[in-house]
Amino acid sequence: MNELENQLEYIEKCKKLIERIAEEKGRSLTACISTFGCQMNARDSEKLTGILKQAGYVITEDENADFVLYNTCTVRDNANMRVYGRLGVLNGYKKRNPDMKIALCGCMMQEETVVEKIRQSYRFVDLIFGTHNIFRFAELLYRTLTETQTVIELWKETDKIVEDLPVERKYPFKSGINIMFGCNNFCSYCIVPYVRGRERSREPEEIIKEIRALVKDGVKEVMLLGQNVNSYGKNLADPISFAELLRRVHAIEGLARIRFMTSHPKDLSDELIEVMKTSPKICRHLHLPLQSGSTRILKAMNRRYTKEDYLALADKIRKEIPDIAITTDIIIGFPGETKEDVDETIDVIKHVSFDNAFTFIYSKRTGTPAAAMENQVPEEIVKEGFDRVLKVVQETAKKQALLLQGRIESVLVEEPNEHDPSLLTGRMSNNMLVHFPGDTSLIGSIVNVSLDECHGFYYFGKRVEQ
Ligand code: SAH
Ligand code: SF4
Ligand code: F3S
Repeated sequence: MNELENQLEYIEKCKKLIERIAEEKGRSLTACISTFGCQMNARDSEKLTGILKQAGYVITEDENADFVLYNTCTVRDNANMRVYGRLGVLNGYKKRNPDMKIALCGCMMQEETVVEKIRQSYRFVDLIFGTHNIFRFAELLYRTLTETQTVIELWKETDKIVEDLPVERKYPFKSGINIMFGCNNFCSYCIVPYVRGRERSREPEEIIKEIRALVKDGVKEVMLLGQNVNSYGKNLADPISFAELLRRVHAIEGLARIRFMTSHPKDLSDELIEVMKTSPKICRHLHLPLQSGSTRILKAMNRRYTKEDYLALADKIRKEIPDIAITTDIIIGFPGETKEDVDETIDVIKHVSFDNAFTFIYSKRTGTPAAAMENQVPEEIVKEGFDRVLKVVQETAKKQALLLQGRIESVLVEEPNEHDPSLLTGRMSNNMLVHFPGDTSLIGSIVNVSLDECHGFYYFGKRVEQ
């Protein structure tokens, strides 16, 4: 029996068991998954939800449920702290519903110190598993429902990619697709390579097959996911470039939009720029993490490009694809960073005029090379640099947004506006949001909207026939 068949069998076993428990209780059982972290985790959660649903749980957003799973992130310390905080609340629910099962998975669980802490101080947790054995969830769920002690299964590595397990998408009209797993870059501040393992690419045929099936199921927009999509396919038995994969995805009939994330500047090829330029379905958005504008800091970060390399790349992209939005990630407070280094970062932000940027305060991650560096920056200096950077980012983002004033853009309608139900929220090709009056029946379709009123990061507009 192969792994897929094995897991499908466990889903059936869970189903019988859950039916029986539901009958005894006289009500159906509920399950809730809370996701921390990045798009990869969000996609993993869709797979986990697919299994829970098929096993017979009613999926809810209320954490006071019969089965609660936290899919955790450990990229920065505040992500970890949130998990510990919320576990306390879950314990309160469990005291009132002793049959409740609490499970933890994801990147945080790949750290031995975390698992030790949970075993010692959070003994009410029923199941712990990691990132490498996520495809074994059905089996682990069955064990959790039938055994009394905490089920813990953690793998240090895997070379397996198990395809075709059930998935339950959050949005019917858009979907993330893993094209690769893990990371080989070892940026000196980053824990991802330690918790997600070495880089592994999926076979292009498997990716295309999955996207075809999604399109058949109503998906209009896909986001190809990987920690460094620009190195996709290099290690396959039959190597293929990311640009070539994009060409093949572009050829899929019925698919309207393609996004991808994340691009490492060191591996971004001219071939990719060419494909983006000539493929109308590829969205006009590139997320290109800078991290720092100081060549000295970039070297210490092991990013393998200089300030000048980054500027030349951004200039080339802006020249070749003029209407593209470039967004980025920036870390402030890396060990040894001075005021002058932050000035260099600000210089790059102004030069590239980022359409948006995520700014992060450096977080020391145990086991990474940067954590052992002696020249950690004092908090008040970091805070000062952070505020300066944020101010400039807000200025360039606003400036870029204003360039669109008065244009008519095609948008994918995603959801009703959070604050005003008479409005819809749609996403433009460049990833910016626009709010406009309309009926919820439009959700999932692509419509033209005029960009009337700029509000910094988003627009108000109205639908136009065209
Ligand atoms: N693979 C992606 C990023 C994944 S992590 C890339 O290389 O671009 C997302 C972002 O978190 C990173 O771009 C970085 O800006 C930030 N980050 C990672 N480790 C961090 C740390 N230790 N402290 C603060 N920010 C960090
Ligand atoms: Fe982390 Fe660098 Fe890999 Fe991105 S490329 S996940 S920042 S090690
Ligand atoms: Fe966090 Fe893991 Fe993603 S550490 S950012 S959830 S890969």
